[in-house]
Amino acid sequence: MDKLVIRGGRPLAGTLRVGGAKNAALPAMAACLLTADPVTLENIPDVRDIQTTRRLLETMGVATDAGAGRAKHRIGLHAEFILHPEAPYELVKTMRASTLVLGPLVARKGEARVSLPGGCAIGARPIDLHLKGLEALGAAITQDHGYVVARAGRLRGAHYRFDRITVTGTEDVLMAATLAEGETVLENCAQEPEVVDLAALLTKMGARIHGAGTPTITVQGVARLHGADHRIIPDRIEAGTFIVAGLITGGDVKVTHCEPRHLEALLVVLQQAGAQVSVGEDEVQVRGVERLRAVPVATAEYPGFATDLQAQYMALMTQAEGTAAITETIFENRFMHALELNRMGANIRLEGRRALVAGPTPLSGAAVLASDLRASASLVLAALAADGETIIDRIYHLDRGYEKLEEKLRAAGAAIRRVGDLIPARGAKAG
Ligand code: EPU
Repeated sequence: MDKLVIRGGRPLAGTLRVGGAKNAALPAMAACLLTADPVTLENIPDVRDIQTTRRLLETMGVATDAGAGRAKHRIGLHAEFILHPEAPYELVKTMRASTLVLGPLVARKGEARVSLPGGCAIGARPIDLHLKGLEALGAAITQDHGYVVARAGRLRGAHYRFDRITVTGTEDVLMAATLAEGETVLENCAQEPEVVDLAALLTKMGARIHGAGTPTITVQGVARLHGADHRIIPDRIEAGTFIVAGLITGGDVKVTHCEPRHLEALLVVLQQAGAQVSVGEDEVQVRGVERLRAVPVATAEYPGFATDLQAQYMALMTQAEGTAAITETIFENRFMHALELNRMGANIRLEGRRALVAGPTPLSGAAVLASDLRASASLVLAALAADGETIIDRIYHLDRGYEKLEEKLRAAGAAIRRVGDLIPARGAKAG
């Protein structure tokens, strides 16, 4: 199993280029199931979750054509026929976002079988709201041997209010509504940029959608959708991770090819903390200062502070003056990185959904374990600021959502390398 070995203490300098948003690319790939025509997506990140989704679509009979070399961020998807409208357990268990195929399959094919995702490292994460939304559109939902089975004739437009805000739930039901008969009004929708990007793609495919990016989305259903070409928005979480990397190392970093408007909540907090931030059209420059101040944050749905940046921000706050209270409101179990950060010398106390980060504390390199995607990123950031060498195990979590993180950071001066197993498995040949 690969590990990252990081020697900390070097200020990063230079340019870090942001790729396409994983969490926008995943629903966009699922949207190809809504049409028999080809869909071409650009700016697709080359990360594990995208490869998993490609495999998932291929098992259903979708023809996929991923570019190579310089074109590796483009993918062609052609769901002319959907032979097996099913997402098997083997794939769903590695990636919950597989449930995004549910809405498109039931809308186009009239049936879908999708494995229930089960437990997940960052909390229970049920999909009840996806199912209620699809039921409101007329799908009959049953459960069978760990699978959700959805069946419908043509879906019917309806009025549906999400009990709580869900990103992929909004995307799933929105996709289904595009092919429903009549008008659908969805209330209490997620307003994330990834939802807006999906709506932009669906609109290019012929869907009639109003209000994406607001809490109420209205869809006039159409009988069929057609093919489209679409460029995925930049990954705001990768951008935020790079910004924190610049600050935590006291470096001077320009984060390019990003969308600063999507990073506003983070940038406001960083400015309050005393960071030097300058914002351009599609780039953000940060310069390290002697000492940041602790600033409390509570995660929230967009446009609030992203839960996907909470772990990275916690690493940064270990180096700030004072005590920062970090409250996680979206997921009930997303502080696993705190314990690993403490092993590196941080002083973080957990009180239910709140973490109290007292700083500044010097960090020292240690052997640590990545527990989920963003927790892994926070350990990388802490390691960049730590004295000595850190070895991060289980970085397959990182590879789900960051493309060549170590190469990008190395180009900005980080001493970081990927290694295979340090101790050969028993029975394995050395050499
Ligand atoms: N929830 C329910 N029922 C549902 C759906 C959600 O109770 O049917 C709850 C969840 O358990 C959670 C809250 O609602 O407590 C919000 O979950 P949401 O559905 O918004 O999360 P998601 O759609 O499963 C997406 C991102 C996550 C990101 C969250 C929150 C994708 C593929 N994933 O997940 O990204 O953390 O929104 O912003 O878009 C990541 O990239 O590392 C990641 C975990």
